[in-house]
Amino acid sequence: MAVLRSAFIALSHNRPLRRFVERSRLCSRLSSRFIAGMTLEDAMRVAAAVNREGISVTLDSLGESVTSEIEAHRAAEVYYQLLDAIAARKLDANISVKLTQMGLEQSPRLAEAIAAGLAQRAHAYGNFVRIDMEDSALTQVTLDIVRRLHARADLRGSIGVVIQAYLYRSEADIEQLLADGIRVRLCKGAYKEPPEVAFPRKADVDKNFVHLSGKLLDSHVYHGIATHDENMIAAAKAFAKEHGIDSSRFEFQMLYGIRRDLQRKLVQDGYRVRVYVPFGPEWYPYVMRRMAERPANVIFLARNFFR
Ligand code: FDA
Repeated sequence: MAVLRSAFIALSHNRPLRRFVERSRLCSRLSSRFIAGMTLEDAMRVAAAVNREGISVTLDSLGESVTSEIEAHRAAEVYYQLLDAIAARKLDANISVKLTQMGLEQSPRLAEAIAAGLAQRAHAYGNFVRIDMEDSALTQVTLDIVRRLHARADLRGSIGVVIQAYLYRSEADIEQLLADGIRVRLCKGAYKEPPEVAFPRKADVDKNFVHLSGKLLDSHVYHGIATHDENMIAAAKAFAKEHGIDSSRFEFQMLYGIRRDLQRKLVQDGYRVRVYVPFGPEWYPYVMRRMAERPANVIFLARNFFR
């Protein structure tokens, strides 16, 4: 299993394969289990449908690791259009942004300036920008940018970040973020990390997830508990119940196309749920990470392929 996970994560960085697969109409069609479609209009349609089920949305215009400043600005433009379209259509949706898509690897200043612009537009609409977390080489710079932007009076409350339970450093990071009042999405973590920085055993990641979710729920900031793992969800519910934390004070988050049954059940039971809806032609690394999490997905896609 660990070998397959590593193989898919390695494949997610393979540029020639990525170019080939993303251009293939068949592959794009197969990936549609995990992505809303290729265009902003597809994203709007899916977001509206998800909202009709009583579920909030966060929209991800797919793409990461751009190679020039122009590409970064082009990627940001899609997010501006998204914020405008969400407001115009009165959708219950915010946006999720990767800083490497905003030029972080070219210049942290560029990424920070773009993120600030997006947070400003979101603030004007009373909306919110979630900065996704990427691999551990980028954790510190990502947190620094989010903390600086959150500290600005004109952006306060409009920007939040993601913490990965597999990193040893996450508890200390959460303490600092809570001290600043920054909203956190807690997830397990989707990248390949060495044992020097991350728990190699899934059981330890899970234990840390439960521990960290308790810390978040116990704070007075609105956080997202992002997982499809029923044990993690049960632990968060039990913690909330035991500590008298109302279900309106936090939300569960899941990925589009994964455990829809569980998403609906949580809504029926009175919990808030947000679904992460990715869209756009640059879907390859995202879908490869979903394969890494659950290699059985390959069988699912292969079955559709032969059908
Ligand atoms: P786990 O992997 O233990 O899976 C538990 C169960 O969930 C499985 O048994 C299966 O039933 C189901 N499941 C999980 N993944 C599946 C898949 N791909 N296909 C089908 N079923 C699946 N990561 C990151 O590093 N940075 C980030 O910013 C984010 N952002 C983010 C947002 C949201 C809303 C979610 C839900 C997740 C992320 N992630 C992320 C991904 C996260 O780190 C993690 O890789 C996945 O959520 C899978 O972990 P689970 O917590 O679901 O548990």
